[in-house]
Amino acid sequence: MENKFRPEDEIDYKDFLKNPLRLFAVVYPYLIMLIIVVGMYWVFNLDHAILNTQQKQLLARDTVAPEIPMQKGAMMEGVNVKEISVPNAEMIAKGAELYKANCSSCHGNEGKGDGIAGSGLNPKPRNFTELDGWKNGAKLSEMWKTLEEGIPGSGMVAYNYLNVVDRFALIHYMHSLMPDFPKDSDSDLETLDLTYSLSEGKVTSNQISVSMAMNKMTEEYSNNKTKIEQFTKELNTVEGDIAVLLDKVISNTDKASITLVNGKNWQSGTNAFINEIASTINNNGFKAITLRLTKDELTTLHSFLLNAHNRLNLQSQS
Ligand code: HEC
Repeated sequence: MENKFRPEDEIDYKDFLKNPLRLFAVVYPYLIMLIIVVGMYWVFNLDHAILNTQQKQLLARDTVAPEIPMQKGAMMEGVNVKEISVPNAEMIAKGAELYKANCSSCHGNEGKGDGIAGSGLNPKPRNFTELDGWKNGAKLSEMWKTLEEGIPGSGMVAYNYLNVVDRFALIHYMHSLMPDFPKDSDSDLETLDLTYSLSEGKVTSNQISVSMAMNKMTEEYSNNKTKIEQFTKELNTVEGDIAVLLDKVISNTDKASITLVNGKNWQSGTNAFINEIASTINNNGFKAITLRLTKDELTTLHSFLLNAHNRLNLQSQS
């Protein structure tokens, strides 16, 4: 008989049923590969396991805080909370007016949460005629909190720019739309008063955005205009290594000149320079990389800028 090799002689699949251990012979190459891959992964990550470290989470390189909004300061007069927490016809009428102008687009004319502007919102605007599921609650003091702080993560923003009496009026009007609503106890009202200094009144200060402040500074210092222009010229006309370095650290030559001409402390040393740049980074014409220069680069940069600065002062004195 011919001794011809046939695969079925090698692997008799039916035999596995009788003797399942033999299956191992077939799968072991795959098993070994799997063990090697898992083993390699384990070995490469051994450092993290042993040192209990976390892989670095890098922030975007020049992450900065968002601009703060512009706000006009105002004096909020103190009110008698006990008195204005009792609704009267005049307040409700005032509240209705404010509600129409500010709230009905989302909460609907009857307060059912069915305003056009609210239809696409998630969560949906509150239906004031139902008492289920309120986040802060439907008491006067609780609605006050909502108007003061908004509901984070929803379309309900704070309405704390409305004056105190107007906000009470609004709440009285909303209550008038509700078939029933929970009432505040005396201590609820006292807490409300204390928490938000309602009877004292408060002064909020003016606040302008950083970029606006920088523009203002630019204006205010326009008497330094010639110096700033000369400094810009100095920065733009250098060549060689220092030009490369300047290119690396300066994002806006005009702004950088303003920063340097007006800066009070940076001349005294590299540390003072870094501190001054860091305090206004991203608005002073320097890139964030300035804060990560090597010691040598920093010394070179600082002494160049210092020389340029001194030359200007000599010129302006002569
Ligand atoms: C842009 C749409 C929008 C406008 C305008 C709006 N709201 Fe809302 N409001 C919402 C949404 C959305 C919710 C639901 C928030 C949630 O459940 O997280 C809400 C919830 C509320 C709540 C319930 C808070 C709670 O405890 O659950 C009150 C009270 C309220 N709004 C009052 C007002 C008043 C008063 C005005 C007008 C000065 C107003 N809203 C204007 C969208 C709006």
